[in-house]
Amino acid sequence: MTPIRIFDTTMRDGEQAPGFSMTVDGKLRMARALAKLNVDVIEAGFAAASPGDAAAITAVARTIDGPVICSLARASRGDVEAAAGALRDTPRGRKRIHVFLGTSPIHRDYKLRMSRAEVLEGIRAAVSHARGFADDVEFSAEDAIRTERDFLVECLSVAASEGATTLNVPDTVGYATPEEIYDLFRHLATHVQGGPEVIFSAHCHDDLGLAVANSLAAVRGGARQVECTVNGIGERAGNAPLEDVVMAIRTRADALGVRTGVVTTEIMAASRTLAQITNTPPPRNKAIVGANAFAHEAGIHQHGVLQNRETYEIMKPEDIGLSTDGIVLGKHSGRHALAARALSLGYALEGASLDRAFRVFKEAADEVGTIDTARLLAILSGLENGRSQRPWSLNKVDIRAPVAPNAQPVARVELEHGERGRVTDLASAPGALDAAFLAVSRIMGVPARVRHIEMQYTAADPDEPAADGQGANVLVEVEVECDGEVFAGRARARDILPCCVAAYIDASSNAEAVRQVRRAAVPATSPAVPVRAAAA
Ligand code: KIV
Ligand code: ZN
Repeated sequence: MTPIRIFDTTMRDGEQAPGFSMTVDGKLRMARALAKLNVDVIEAGFAAASPGDAAAITAVARTIDGPVICSLARASRGDVEAAAGALRDTPRGRKRIHVFLGTSPIHRDYKLRMSRAEVLEGIRAAVSHARGFADDVEFSAEDAIRTERDFLVECLSVAASEGATTLNVPDTVGYATPEEIYDLFRHLATHVQGGPEVIFSAHCHDDLGLAVANSLAAVRGGARQVECTVNGIGERAGNAPLEDVVMAIRTRADALGVRTGVVTTEIMAASRTLAQITNTPPPRNKAIVGANAFAHEAGIHQHGVLQNRETYEIMKPEDIGLSTDGIVLGKHSGRHALAARALSLGYALEGASLDRAFRVFKEAADEVGTIDTARLLAILSGLENGRSQRPWSLNKVDIRAPVAPNAQPVARVELEHGERGRVTDLASAPGALDAAFLAVSRIMGVPARVRHIEMQYTAADPDEPAADGQGANVLVEVEVECDGEVFAGRARARDILPCCVAAYIDASSNAEAVRQVRRAAVPATSPAVPVRAAAA
């Protein structure tokens, strides 16, 4: 099968988009993830854009083994020299200078104010200058898709004759259709002078949601390099997502007849690394890496997947490095899925015990949405021993602001326990929230440390006031770590502070339920949780 090079531009085109800027350390982390993915080229930045970007390119080139490291450069001596400077310690064979110049009439007339002849001369001079520093030079005809065909052929022929080894044909504004791109690449392969000696490359933006389709059409038309970004980040609507391109090529190798060298089991790790560095997870429904990409909540789908995963899955989650059985329990789930997950946790539910558990499970799902393993364990063990696994609730929380200059805020928290009644504690910490969490942790006896907290505020609709005049409009979701495991909690309330504390109590209750089940397990032979008979 024909090999396709994967050119990753997450740290250049991706970083250019608002909200995605990365520090040097962030870029180094990302570059390590990309090296594990085994991409062919890492475009680490745009050296002339800022000293920080140049430093990041140098750091990536010095640290990362494997992929070719590339810097972008406008078609000017200064930019080419900045790129060469940033890549100075990199062996000639492992560095690429990527020169670009706008070629379309709109770029020539309005942005560059250059004639066709000046553009051709600009390409000639910049590519030949870049070849003085690197054996591997890429030329991009910016806005190639809106460039007159004959002129595009001329531009690319000049670049090839000056020694460019890769000719990139960007759809800078995401305007093309797959048929047009296919036809264009076919045309370029036969008309560009020096075409047979170079690699043609596709670089598609997603303004019309066609970036992946266009990249694959370019490959069918003869492109042998695809430029893409992890999670599809990039200018405006983004670039073609690397994970989509790679998994489409792998899953439909029968239709496309090409392959990449990407280690697909590293895809999820790269996506998560990027999400952490930029603080922006991909949307839940994003193909391949979104939280829902391999999740099944609807009862009919779950039943099918439990019988044979291929009923609703065309790829295996393990192929992208995700370990999941794909079953997400929520209000749409059926009895089959509940019984199967309960059995995997050691609870054999049938008949009346399954009916009862199913009722309690649906009530909980209506309230909180997704029922994760810890919450399900709490439900099942609560049903088994007839006691509530969430005995604690919040009565009151007050914060006393520090008065002395170096003093800390003090939280006074009052919880209600189903059997023990009211319990109060005071705690101080550098922050008010930490103080409140500490007081709760001492009352409940659960050493849960907050890892992540997310708040959503929905402004009350003035036309539809809540019946009691005080609708809950804060939603808090919290993740805590307890004994090395992570537990989720959530709460809705009117005000932020009590809402955060209630969510922390919820997560700590899940942690406590799991701890209790573990304590009850027989240590010598116990699996993660004990296997039990049906809890009627
Ligand atoms: O979209 C584009 O045209 C680019 C070039 C600089 C390659 O990102
Ligand atoms: Zn681009």
